[in-house]
Amino acid sequence: MTNRDNPPTEPNQPAVYQIRIKGHLNEQWVDWFEGMNITLEENGNTLLTGPVIDQSALHGLLKKVRDAGMTLLSVNQYHSAKGENLMKNQMKAIVYTKFGSPDVLELKEVAKPTPKDNEVLIRIVATTVAVEDPGIRARPGLNGFLKPKKSILGFYLAGEVEAVGKDVKRFKKSDKVYGNTGLGLLGTYAEYICMPEDGALAMKPVSITYEEAAALPNGALTALPFLRDKGNIQSGQKVLIHGASGAVGTIAVQLAKYFGADVTGVCSTTNLEMVKSLGADKVIDYTKEDFTKNGQTYDIIFDTVGNNPFSRCKGSLTENGIYLTTVPSPTTMFQMLWTSRTGGRKVAIAATGLRPSNEKTKELIFLNGLIETGKIKAVIDRSYPLEQIAEAHKYVEAGHKKGNVVINVTHGYLS
Ligand SMILES: NC(=O)c1ccc[n+]([C@@H]2O[C@H](COP(=O)([O-])OP(=O)(O)OC[C@H]3O[C@@H](n4cnc5c(N)ncnc54)[C@H](OP(=O)(O)O)[C@@H]3O)[C@@H](O)[C@H]2O)c1
Repeated sequence: MTNRDNPPTEPNQPAVYQIRIKGHLNEQWVDWFEGMNITLEENGNTLLTGPVIDQSALHGLLKKVRDAGMTLLSVNQYHSAKGENLMKNQMKAIVYTKFGSPDVLELKEVAKPTPKDNEVLIRIVATTVAVEDPGIRARPGLNGFLKPKKSILGFYLAGEVEAVGKDVKRFKKSDKVYGNTGLGLLGTYAEYICMPEDGALAMKPVSITYEEAAALPNGALTALPFLRDKGNIQSGQKVLIHGASGAVGTIAVQLAKYFGADVTGVCSTTNLEMVKSLGADKVIDYTKEDFTKNGQTYDIIFDTVGNNPFSRCKGSLTENGIYLTTVPSPTTMFQMLWTSRTGGRKVAIAATGLRPSNEKTKELIFLNGLIETGKIKAVIDRSYPLEQIAEAHKYVEAGHKKGNVVINVTHGYLS
């Protein structure tokens, strides 16, 4: 096995990496990895451990893995048994300095942040590539205009508190936490982040993994305020979720069931079974049936895709039904104002990500109860190591992820 307790200690020594690949390395390839300690793990994977002079040497090694036809599972800079990064005050992060294709995302060593008096330093174990991330990466707008204002992307995290500022009361070292940094901070594509203790952070439910904890807030911090607060969802109501297989939709289906609704999920053919398994009473395949034309009516129609506007859905709403959408347009804004002054069917939109942190924290604490009792679970489509985040972006921007795409940041060191 690898010697985790005896790492090099000189700061000017090359960084030591651990590369985990799927399957046992065939003897014919062993010479390719000269200088690396090769461990054939009991679970059938192979762990390569050894010094790597620089990033180009690292890329050369990863290319060899690919050339040997093997699947890369994770790449990590070696950490001691105590979990300390040997490169003092440095951390791995995915950095971008210009807007563009996924190739603008670069793995770099950057300064590790230090918590201010009111902040917690979190060692991030898992984060996600949310559907918004590729747009923020590619185009000026939400994260600056001439160049990215924040050079590290990422909204959602799960990890362990490594240090706290002197005024912090809510958290202590070693707490396992999860949460959402928000547009003003971003920064979760990294090994560490500092967040104010009153940020959108809560203790991670003990029954779920870090990956699941990183995945849940994305959909949950949107679906909950939409259904409960905007839609005033009630037991016995008929609720339709359009986009039921996405990050928001998968949680919306489960929450609507929790609130006692009769739930119809709309998704593509391949996701019908998955949406049913989340508790949907009925599913509609949008490639075969247009729900706005099937004669059914609903108390709430929640459009998480944005391609079925109120004008199309109106006839499928009950007399006092409400149309909710996560993808607002100037027209829906006007319709929301207009319908708020008239009787009958209503329209409601929200920018849930921009709400104050204390609201989100309250919701995370509420959700913890549902998670611990198994009422809500995360749907994870794929996981990628941090180093392959560009691949994750390509997958997410294709527009058909199921639930969430998770990024393992410190794969295997904390569980
Ligand atoms: N307003 C807010 O506060 C707020 C908050 C969060 C998210 N959002 C927005 O809400 C939207 C959904 O977010 P998300 O995280 O759930 O995205 P997501 O995980 O990518 O899910 C989108 C879903 O849309 C479905 N879809 C794709 N093309 C479709 C089509 N032509 N017809 C019907 N369904 C289609 C996909 O299902 P299939 O693969 O089955 O087609 C996919 O599961 C995004 O635009 C996001 O920016 C807004």
